[in-house]
Amino acid sequence: MDVKADAATISRSVQVNLRETWSIGPVEIPTRLVLAPMAGVSVQAFRRQGRRFGAGLVCSEMVSCAGIEHRNERTLGYLRVGGDEHPLAIQIFGSEPQVMAEAARMVEAAGADLVDINFGCPVRKVTRTGAGARLLEDPERACRIVGAVASAVDVPVSVKMRRGLEDGSRVCLDVGPRLVEAGAASLTLHPRSARQMYTGHAEHALTAELVERVDVPVVASGDITSRAKAKAVLATTGAAAVMVGRAAQGNPWALREIIDADPAEPTREEVVAELLLFMRETVRELGERRAAGFLKKFYGWYLGRGRFPRPFKQELVQLATIAEVEQRLLTAAPAAADLFERLEAELPDVDDVLLDSMPISIYGGG
Ligand SMILES: Cc1cc2nc3c(=O)[nH]c(=O)nc-3n(C[C@H](O)[C@H](O)[C@H](O)COP(=O)(O)O)c2cc1C
Repeated sequence: MDVKADAATISRSVQVNLRETWSIGPVEIPTRLVLAPMAGVSVQAFRRQGRRFGAGLVCSEMVSCAGIEHRNERTLGYLRVGGDEHPLAIQIFGSEPQVMAEAARMVEAAGADLVDINFGCPVRKVTRTGAGARLLEDPERACRIVGAVASAVDVPVSVKMRRGLEDGSRVCLDVGPRLVEAGAASLTLHPRSARQMYTGHAEHALTAELVERVDVPVVASGDITSRAKAKAVLATTGAAAVMVGRAAQGNPWALREIIDADPAEPTREEVVAELLLFMRETVRELGERRAAGFLKKFYGWYLGRGRFPRPFKQELVQLATIAEVEQRLLTAAPAAADLFERLEAELPDVDDVLLDSMPISIYGGG
């Protein structure tokens, strides 16, 4: 980028307002910041936290439509929707249009405001079944999936995709408009190839090209780690919103920095209080046994970034129970106890009423 273009970007960036409302169909989204769907991360606790820190839209991790079809108890557990999560997208993946349509009906019944379809997952276990990013190479099937899902539900349908399977691919620019024609009300682009996984960088020039080609809102995903980057991507691509993933893992303060220009690093007490709340919420959601394993990666994410000495995390990971981890955290930051209590008191109860409308019980997952 030359100096003149740089200056133009900066001046356009200054005018970007991240607190602007935008919409996908009739669904109003209060900020231009979206929390990314992440498998093994985007539990309800993560999504509710994302909302508290400024995300206007949150998304579940990808849910297998086959799992929904077979009423797999753990899969159905992903369809829990809390009253304070709206607007919320639930993401589904699969390769059979009718199975995807049926899964979408369940997702709608669970209370999701949007059904998101995954055409981006690069993981072999998923692509070899013809799902995820593999569908970018089979646009006809991809369009049939979007069409079947859009006809099955009243809520808007969105699609999240990569640029293509191979490095340098521009296939998303051809497939994107076709998906819109088939019924997608919004597209999210993570402009890396599936082959790249998470290496290299997200090439948002491609996002700008996609924005030019479709008349639905486009969300830009990939490498958004700061307010400056968020504003520059919005200004240069014309995207409706930016999506933040890895930067928010164990670090909701990144969302606050992006939305509010508040660069304050959290105190140790704040970090511990948020982690304790996250742990409580996760235990409620997953049950103690599953939560114990699930949470281990979060200890490093919360306590890293120079916030606590490295051996401290090692110590926590080795503790046998969540109660012991809580104790140890409070010993390291005793003043976090009051803050944690306040946070917990402020958190609305999870509104379970919606779950009553589910065809079968989905409480079994703990
Ligand atoms: C651990 C992990 C799990 C992910 N799982 C999903 C997923 O379930 N569905 C999806 O569409 N994208 C998934 N992604 C991709 C992210 O949504 C996002 O597009 C990508 O991480 C790039 O954004 P970032 O640079 O802000 O992390 C995942 C990414 C990570 C790191």
